[in-house]
Amino acid sequence: MGVESAGDGINAGCNDARYGRQRRSLSPPHPSTSARETVSAAGRQQGAAESAKEKSLVIAASGALLGGVYGLWTLFALPGLKIPTHLKVGLKKVPYLPSSGKQTQNILTLLQGRAGSLADLGSGDGRLVFAATAKGFQCTGFEINSILTGYARGKARWKGLPSSSASFINKDFWKSDLSKYNNVTVFLAPGVMEVLGRKLEKELPDEARVIACRFPIPDWTPTATEGKGLDQTWAYDMNLIRKIQHKQPED
Ligand SMILES: C[S@@+](CC[C@H](N)C(=O)[O-])C[C@H]1O[C@@H](n2cnc3c(N)ncnc32)[C@H](O)[C@@H]1O
Repeated sequence: MGVESAGDGINAGCNDARYGRQRRSLSPPHPSTSARETVSAAGRQQGAAESAKEKSLVIAASGALLGGVYGLWTLFALPGLKIPTHLKVGLKKVPYLPSSGKQTQNILTLLQGRAGSLADLGSGDGRLVFAATAKGFQCTGFEINSILTGYARGKARWKGLPSSSASFINKDFWKSDLSKYNNVTVFLAPGVMEVLGRKLEKELPDEARVIACRFPIPDWTPTATEGKGLDQTWAYDMNLIRKIQHKQPED
């Protein structure tokens, strides 16, 4: 009876999946089935390990790419995006964007007949400074990004230029006195041009000329302009700007 009962239990276990655990505990697994299970389990484990490895490689590569892009952005664009705290006016965002050959040419055309000191506000890699130095100006580039400033200084050394012809100051031009410059070149951003106009009007001497590339100074009347579209460049003479401003009735 006891054996029968046990046998019934075993049979019942064999026929009913609910008793699977009971069956395994009562009868030892077939050796070849066990080996197959072990091999396929090992295969599954290896597959899972490989796919986990692939996933982590993809995650690491994406992380490295994002990190690189962020690093470059931080090095080149971010310093130009710092907003001067003493100026509470809207968008003062000026990222690095080198001027094209055509833009440089237009600036040089508007500098024809001029001489003396020149300040390039936001000098980037120094290309405008070098172009103006070749025309005989004594140039100073103001650049907030220390890497671009270092690059421009290295290039000036490599070109054998004395600092009296081309020098680069790693400084925020908003915090610099510009009163000793009689030529100023700017290639910045539309959001800063109005405030820049006010700063230049306060500081520059009457004989100064301002050349604005791509973005004009609002409310200023240009003496001359060169090029079209993205290459358009404007020349403003301070004595004319002041004359016009003084003529305007006070409100
Ligand atoms: C549009 S890029 C022009 C670069 C260069 N002048 C050229 O024509 O190739 C503007 C430059 O101004 C710099 N800049 C932005 N704000 C500045 C600030 N407050 N003082 C100095 N440089 C600044 C940026 O880092 C960037 O290099």
